[in-house]
Amino acid sequence: MNYQMWINAATQANYSLLRERGVQFAGPASGSQACGETGPGRMLEPVEIITALAPAPSRCLEGVRVLISAGPTFEDIDPVRYIGNRSSGRMGFAVARAAVAAGADVSLVAGPVTLETPSGVKRIDVRGAVEMRDEVVRLAATADVFISVAAVADYTPARKAEQKIKKGLPTQKLELVGTPDIVAEVAALDTGPFTVGFAAETENLKEHAIEKLSRKRLDMIAANRVGQDDSGFDSENNEILILVPGGEKYLGKGSKQELARLLIEEAAARMKEKERIETRSDKNIRPASGN
Ligand code: PMT
Repeated sequence: MNYQMWINAATQANYSLLRERGVQFAGPASGSQACGETGPGRMLEPVEIITALAPAPSRCLEGVRVLISAGPTFEDIDPVRYIGNRSSGRMGFAVARAAVAAGADVSLVAGPVTLETPSGVKRIDVRGAVEMRDEVVRLAATADVFISVAAVADYTPARKAEQKIKKGLPTQKLELVGTPDIVAEVAALDTGPFTVGFAAETENLKEHAIEKLSRKRLDMIAANRVGQDDSGFDSENNEILILVPGGEKYLGKGSKQELARLLIEEAAARMKEKERIETRSDKNIRPASGN
């Protein structure tokens, strides 16, 4: 409905009365409306309605501050061309919705995607890897969990041409330089968040994911196969294997939304386990008090 109808005193009084009687609401969402205005009253996205109707998710991240990166990065070559990849942002946005449903306070750093912002999520839009790094590192200082779902470019053009590069030469060379490894930088922070990476692999899934888990010093990594039609990049479905130092759990094959819910529950459980171990070892090294 139009936002004026939604905020009308009569609608709000009826809404409050129904809530007092125990009726649960899904939505409304806020955003642009058919009439051209902006505000609350929009229908939720179908996937958000399905999430709301699913069995009550466990509130395993109640009050926890979760930072998520999603989507591709675009690395500009000149004012009209860029290097990108096939990430649609769906997996990262599904993780953001699942984290909200689990009670978390969620910030989402999104590369260039065309998805609606999930309800209850603070979204920051970025374009390139360096911009994504700056926003993620800034927000990681106050996050308890960071989940790096974004498909960040590993290389970016050494220089961005000021003007459109003209056709003429039979061949062109493009010099590329490495981008910052965002998830590794966050994982290396002294009092940084519990850090979860994703590994997108076309071959040797488990072996490559274990190598990334260890090299980037992550707490957990979600390995998924990419380069096939019905799973991974730009699809509604995925298949995920979770790896942690010394352990693994196959989450299965299914919709990204369902896998996101399982991933969030797994991350919450691992984070609590890590806190327990750290508290125990803190107690062990604390000097004895008194005489
Ligand atoms: O967006 P969708 O279409 O839904 O597709 C989902 C997905 C396939 C993109 C997603 O499930 C996924 O696998 N995301 C990670 C993609 C990726 O870049 O994987 P990687 O194996 O190259 O990188 C490993 C980890 O390092 C990732 O957590 C990545 O975010 C991070 N990274 C990579 C490079 C870089 N410069 N900085 C990083 O932080």
